[in-house]
Amino acid sequence: MTHIRKAVFPVAGMGTRFLPATKSIPKEMLPLVDRPLIQYAVDEARKAGIEEFIFVSAAGKGALEDYFDTAAALEMQLKAKGKTAALDALAPSRMPEGALTILRQARPLGLGHAVRQAKNLIGDAPFAVLLPDDVIMHPTGALAQMVQAHSEVGGHMLATMEVPQASVSSYGVLDVRETHGRISWARGLVEKPRPEAAPSTQAVVGRYILQPSIFARLDALGPGAGGELQLTDAINQDVETVGVTGFNFDGERFDCGSVQGFVQATAAFAMARGDLSETFVNFLQARQNQQQQAA
Ligand code: G1P
Repeated sequence: MTHIRKAVFPVAGMGTRFLPATKSIPKEMLPLVDRPLIQYAVDEARKAGIEEFIFVSAAGKGALEDYFDTAAALEMQLKAKGKTAALDALAPSRMPEGALTILRQARPLGLGHAVRQAKNLIGDAPFAVLLPDDVIMHPTGALAQMVQAHSEVGGHMLATMEVPQASVSSYGVLDVRETHGRISWARGLVEKPRPEAAPSTQAVVGRYILQPSIFARLDALGPGAGGELQLTDAINQDVETVGVTGFNFDGERFDCGSVQGFVQATAAFAMARGDLSETFVNFLQARQNQQQQAA
């Protein structure tokens, strides 16, 4: 099985949909329950065997960089006070020496441009891309499922899910040639099609396993949907040569790039937590009853 060791995390977005919160906090640091959004993507990558983490960041994201650094003063204080539970809570935010590289995308030219920044760090092995806005709830993670499937089919692989026709214009969409189990072979890909022009309702979710050949495509890429350099367009150019599959992952996906999706994810993760679930569900039920009575 090919060991996918490196993953790229595009984290340069401004997060305007979360203003005013994102005026001074990177979107990736907004907490879902008690962990920042970025932690969920990093945890999923670790479960898939990723050892090298490449963040494509931007100016004003210092808090994100500090988060994965050692907090020496804080750790000393917690140790001195014997607060072991609090010390343990820091464990997921620790990165082994040399495991994290932070690049900067100097201009916001799109997802394809963001991924292209990692070219010199990737080398000649397939690598993963995770968009932290897409949070996927699953015990072993969607990327681990993809790594397993990718070892059998190779090529470029994208996570996909079925969406309502009216929503396709928010996604990259697969033109499906044939489907076997969870894997769909693509004839092509379109970024953000109009619903009436969409080739299917199989939408791309932010998990990719890409061959390094993608960088030649990204280098030559012109602007696509929204005037941006689209990763989808670069992948589309490799359909005949490299092969492109969609992987219909198991797990629940939350669109944490939208406030609605973020709130739903917050509720779902709180309800999945043994220490919060009961009180939280009771609270929601009481609240709903109150609203019904008032209506
Ligand atoms: C990006 C990709 C799109 C994909 C989506 C998944 O779009 O360009 O192909 O379907 O992520 O979340 P964005 O949501 O950044 O506009």
